[in-house]
Amino acid sequence: MERTFAVIKPDAVRRNITGKILDRIEAAGFSIVGMKRILLTKEQAMGFYYVHRERPFYDELCSYMASGPIVVLALEKEDAIAGWRSLMGATNPADAAEGTIRREFGLSLGENSVHGSDSPESAAFEIPYFFNCLELV
Ligand code: RTP
Ligand code: MG
Repeated sequence: MERTFAVIKPDAVRRNITGKILDRIEAAGFSIVGMKRILLTKEQAMGFYYVHRERPFYDELCSYMASGPIVVLALEKEDAIAGWRSLMGATNPADAAEGTIRREFGLSLGENSVHGSDSPESAAFEIPYFFNCLELV
């Protein structure tokens, strides 16, 4: 069993499709072992996306992630990290494969509805950024 970290981003929460995305996650066999709805400050978003601090889109990305409530999730399944990346689809919804969440719900490269850890190292940083051990059941 492996755990990964997922976010339902502000564009999706704003459009009231949190439930639809959760349904896709559960239908794909993930166990939701942690979940909460939160509103990040820009500083907290900057800490979360610190790995992207040198990228030209960092400031815009962090403002967007702090622009409205998000739902943060810890997901468990065999090969959860790769499996969730595959269910999300490519970063740009226009390039995402048929049947993926970003293809179905994403609006643009920035407003692409979901986030997922890209490696075990990222998951090991991202899960405890949002959840303590009592919140992972
Ligand atoms: P995420 O971290 O959100 O799961 O997305 P990802 O791994 O597929 O993509 P990543 O390269 O980590 O980029 C993080 C988020 O930044 C936005 N982005 N904007 N304007 C741009 O060129 C650009 N490139 C990436 C996307 O919203 C992406 O999800
Ligand atoms: Mg990423």
